[in-house]
Amino acid sequence: MATDPRPYVIVLYNHAGDDVYEQLRCVDPRTLDFKPEYDIRVSTVMDEYNAVVRALRHMGYRARGVNITEDIKKLERVIKRSKPDVIFNLVEHFLDDPELETHIAALFEVYGVAYTGATPFALSLCQKKGLTKDILTGVGVPTPKFLRTFDAEIPDDHGLQYPLIVKPAREDASSGVEQASVVNDYDTLKTRLTYVIDEWGGPVLVEEFILGRELHIALLGNDPPEVLPPIEWDFSELPEEYPPLISYAAKWNPLAEVYHKVHSICPASISDELRERVEEVAIRAFQVTECRDYARLDIRVANDGTPYVLEVNPNPDLTEGVSFMEAAAVAGYEFDETLAAIVEYALERRPTGALKVTSEPPLKTGLDPANITPKAPSTPPAGEGTDQASETGEAGTV
Ligand SMILES: Nc1ncnc2c1ncn2[C@@H]1O[C@H](COP(=O)(O)OP(=O)(O)O)[C@@H](O)[C@H]1O
Ligand SMILES: [Mg+2]
Repeated sequence: MATDPRPYVIVLYNHAGDDVYEQLRCVDPRTLDFKPEYDIRVSTVMDEYNAVVRALRHMGYRARGVNITEDIKKLERVIKRSKPDVIFNLVEHFLDDPELETHIAALFEVYGVAYTGATPFALSLCQKKGLTKDILTGVGVPTPKFLRTFDAEIPDDHGLQYPLIVKPAREDASSGVEQASVVNDYDTLKTRLTYVIDEWGGPVLVEEFILGRELHIALLGNDPPEVLPPIEWDFSELPEEYPPLISYAAKWNPLAEVYHKVHSICPASISDELRERVEEVAIRAFQVTECRDYARLDIRVANDGTPYVLEVNPNPDLTEGVSFMEAAAVAGYEFDETLAAIVEYALERRPTGALKVTSEPPLKTGLDPANITPKAPSTPPAGEGTDQASETGEAGTV
């Protein structure tokens, strides 16, 4: 049998149970008591994984989706049998625990398989928002003043200036961020702290709320990464009593009116001076937290022009047209090209084999599709026979 020279990419994810977005497909938008601005039938998580597989195939890779379905042995089997050249790591949690995302990436290291995106270290660090902020502060990257606590009984001379925002220190994707997260006095602060500690556990961050423009900055590549055009969040249509922020509902719930009142604009219209400051801060934050390949930073710009980093997101969402991919598209990088570039960064790190790129300069900035023609793998991917059934589907299991 002829050897297929195309690199073999396993698009790995972990999905079990219901998909809430599947259920939304049954909702008739006419039953809502407001007029939705956006489609309420958003893509399901499976649609998103399949889109990555399809795009990589389109770019000439052999790509297969594998759902580990909360089964660690399945991960071991797929690495041992299929011997992928690269794992495209889309695993964000394991056993419902986002902190175990780190340990899945650690297994790729243990098995010596190349994978896309951040190392376990960066994933773990950035999940601890307080620790990340300590590090950012240490290297002079502005981040809002804050304290962290496990206890709602904090002294009233805490030294922070209202308004404050109370948020779980180890959640992401706006979990625990709601209208009521922003507090203006000590009593409300204690009430909210009690609620967040009960609901999410500690530690909890109490942070100065920066009442300025919100910019999300996507970065692509390494040494240094390329800063993609900034995305701005427009809160101007929110009701007056609603604090200008991306709450959980605004981000994820198409059945909530607020979801249709917060809009992203890319590229954000910002001055050259602000762009320079933001880019400098973004690259510094990416490097000091040891992000890799792609990341997204959430920033609020105070009225004096200081860009405050709220958090660093390694391996951010790659849904087509949204957030990271919106910025990539504005930079002129197609969805499939951007995914292929991410695969190529990982291929360069393959632990062994003739294909370790030595003669060509590594893909860093200025995505050029001519540079991302798939290269031949060091060894023919094994296990084709055993995984034949799932190879034919878009997102198979083993
Ligand atoms: N200190 C802050 N000042 C202003 N807005 C904030 C602050 N912290 C969080 N927010 C708002 O809450 C959203 C979610 O907070 P973030 O720190 O990015 O956590 P995550 O996205 O992981 O839930 C931000 O996008 C922003 O709108
Ligand atoms: Mg965020």
